[in-house]
Amino acid sequence: MMYSLARPLFFLLDPEKAHHLALESLRLANAAGLTGRIRNDNKPVSVMGLEFPNPVGLAAGLDKNGDYIDALSSLGFGWLEIGTVTPRPQPGNPKPRLFRLPKSNAVINRMGFNNLGVDKLVENVRNARYKGILGINIGKNFDTPLESASNDYLACLEKVYPHASYVTVNISSPNTKNLRKLQQSDELDHLLESLKRKQAELEGLSGKHVPLALKISPDLSESEIDEISSLLLKHEIEGVIATNTTLSRTGVEGQLHASEAGGLSGEPLREASNGVIRRLHSCLAGKIPIIGVGGIMNGEDAMEKLDAGATLVQVYSGLIYRGPGLVPEILNAWNERRDK
Ligand SMILES: Cc1cc2nc3c(=O)[nH]c(=O)nc-3n(C[C@H](O)[C@H](O)[C@H](O)COP(=O)(O)O)c2cc1C
Repeated sequence: MMYSLARPLFFLLDPEKAHHLALESLRLANAAGLTGRIRNDNKPVSVMGLEFPNPVGLAAGLDKNGDYIDALSSLGFGWLEIGTVTPRPQPGNPKPRLFRLPKSNAVINRMGFNNLGVDKLVENVRNARYKGILGINIGKNFDTPLESASNDYLACLEKVYPHASYVTVNISSPNTKNLRKLQQSDELDHLLESLKRKQAELEGLSGKHVPLALKISPDLSESEIDEISSLLLKHEIEGVIATNTTLSRTGVEGQLHASEAGGLSGEPLREASNGVIRRLHSCLAGKIPIIGVGGIMNGEDAMEKLDAGATLVQVYSGLIYRGPGLVPEILNAWNERRDK
């Protein structure tokens, strides 16, 4: 109700300014005790050895630095994923770099991992009061050559390890040159091997096991998904997140901003993302859990992801179009299905 009143005002603003205004307003409302504590009669879901209070998470990219953890936790999510964070701070691409395509409930972004660096993110996590499940999504700096990309991931993994419930390895953003090449078999084999070695070393030192999840693109062919699945199984990666944004413009042709460079998300991404989930599900045969993300605009869309083989779901663009009411709406659909 409240969001349907605020949305036309937000949509008058430049999308990146609206993003900051929305998050700052949420922070103030939360600090003033005005955010509703969402009733939690949801059945927890056990995934990657973690107990998620409910299956709806915040997708990466909305809170890149972990600046709004406490405020976002008041919206009823079962967990939050922050990042993508890189070892060193970087400004991202020049503005404008975020575009709304309201006719299709879609967004195009080419943010380019704008973030304050891993040390600042860790400081924010330390200062947050939130004690729930926190995924930390890691990437590489734009100027790190692809050959040394694994050093960036290892550096981030080491720093976030003590503070994360799980760590997402993001190799699927279309906005960092060549990043998606890390999805190719040889590169991925090498990257996953070094990450698992580091994970074992950090587990040995801390006594804490932090699962790894790989976030993949919706623009992969079936054979590429099959190869990635075998590597996930080979290296015993604990989870897979499908999907990131797409380079395709199917469904938005001819619309204002449709030809902006970047990744498309929201409604037009949904089917492609579901297709990747289905393929993963048939390759992984339940051995590795799938977190489904891409184009969830209502409860039914989220149930479709579960039907495709996902165990948990995440949302981002749906929040821009539907507001925070999307979270309880998905939870209602989930509870209705459970009670049937
Ligand atoms: C503005 C914006 C920034 C994003 N930044 C990141 C990011 O830093 N890391 C990441 O893994 N995904 C990022 N994503 C992708 C989302 O996490 C999600 O995978 C994608 O948008 C599909 O979900 P949706 O259709 O619900 O938005 C971003 C998406 C948007 C719209």
